[in-house]
Amino acid sequence: MTYQNYSLKQLQQIDAAHHLHPFTDHKELREAGSRVITHANGPFIYDSEGTELLDGMAGLWCVNIGYGREELAEAAYAQMKELPYYNSFFKCSTPTPVLLSKKLAEIAPDNVNQVFYGSSGSEANDTALRLVRHYWVLEGKPEKNRVISRKMAYHGSTIAGTSLGGMDAMHKQLNGAVPNIVHVMMPYAYELALPGESDHDFGLRAAKSVEDAILEAGADKVAAFIGEPVMGAGGVKIPPASYWPEVQRICRKYDVLLMLDEVITGYGRTGEWFAAQTFGIEPDTITTAKALTSGYQPLSALLVGDRITATLVEKGGEFNHGYTYSGHPVACAVALKNLELIEQEGLVDRVKNDTGPYFAKALQERIAGHELVGEVRSIGLMGAIEIVKDKATKERFLPSGSAAVVVRDHAIANGMMLRATGDTMILSPPLIWTRDTIDMACDRIAKALDLAQADLRKR
Ligand SMILES: Cc1ncc(COP(=O)(O)O)c(C=O)c1O
Repeated sequence: MTYQNYSLKQLQQIDAAHHLHPFTDHKELREAGSRVITHANGPFIYDSEGTELLDGMAGLWCVNIGYGREELAEAAYAQMKELPYYNSFFKCSTPTPVLLSKKLAEIAPDNVNQVFYGSSGSEANDTALRLVRHYWVLEGKPEKNRVISRKMAYHGSTIAGTSLGGMDAMHKQLNGAVPNIVHVMMPYAYELALPGESDHDFGLRAAKSVEDAILEAGADKVAAFIGEPVMGAGGVKIPPASYWPEVQRICRKYDVLLMLDEVITGYGRTGEWFAAQTFGIEPDTITTAKALTSGYQPLSALLVGDRITATLVEKGGEFNHGYTYSGHPVACAVALKNLELIEQEGLVDRVKNDTGPYFAKALQERIAGHELVGEVRSIGLMGAIEIVKDKATKERFLPSGSAAVVVRDHAIANGMMLRATGDTMILSPPLIWTRDTIDMACDRIAKALDLAQADLRKR
């Protein structure tokens, strides 16, 4: 690696000249220059100027095991030397995806025992969409092809991912989505509950919107419902306890498959291996990626329920779908080691019984009372802070999203990397965070809120 021979300015110039970044205004990027992250260790990332930042986002919801884990580098190195690549097409296999599939079947919900690999969450959702539609074709019901999703859902950035997702800004640029996907209301009580409506009743009402969409299309036309157990990129929206059991009941009643997107919630984030277990859901598919390798290698795993697999096997015929890197031996070796370490270090239990509850308490006690904060909420090590102009009325600063960006910028300037989405600050730290790290994060966020408040008052 020879980037050390370049100055920050040179790297920024080359970046601007040749590198088109995801989800970026390229005009703005060229004016501002990118922040170049050069190395990382444990819970910290460092930029080219040597600035240390506590990483409140685990990279991009993925580095659950923390940075600088030599065991993962060694697993990749050993596998690269032995067998860097072979495909899993045409009845071939390699050992690491075989063993990883066994491990995933062990930790997944009981009815989920098969795995289809890709390299990203978006690809895995593309596979999931093709698979559920193919399932109904095999079942002799090709007209059962609609999928119900939710507004503000994020299911990735390919054409299928964007179509399944419910982000207006993305749909506008799509200019023609995959047909037969509809979006219903999200279970976001903070903004959508009616005055006086309990969380419980709101959860049932949000679930009812799924039933309404099924009835409107006709159950014989609806293939599946897809949802993130906790909406992540849409703002860490945690549904009321009544929501998922009711959605599951509705899906069963109308024989609609239940697809979970656990690209963010998978592998320990909510205090169980999967949020399906946290919420007691028995899904037909679970999309996973990110923390499967803690981001050390690109790998996704679509976990497939027995009902779908049974039909694939019983009816036979080729499923004409797959990727060159499906079951990549190096990525799977890294995933195996990552899961082994998460298990050895008891990180999932730690989130459930120690750091998760401590994180919730710290956010409530140290952040929720701030004048700029309308609500804090968290589940496991995943949290949100709603930024408001008026706590009582929930009025927001205008233009929408502008205040959260002020908080974010102060947070970064004070050594805390966190993200703003709309008017919500979101946190999804590595699962190696301790109580001390949580305290450090709260100190830095509280300071950023104070500084932001001073700025916003001047506006
Ligand atoms: C819930 C969810 N699904 C799918 C994706 C897409 O994953 P990828 O960016 O790996 O394609 C993401 C990415 O953040 C996600 O949060």
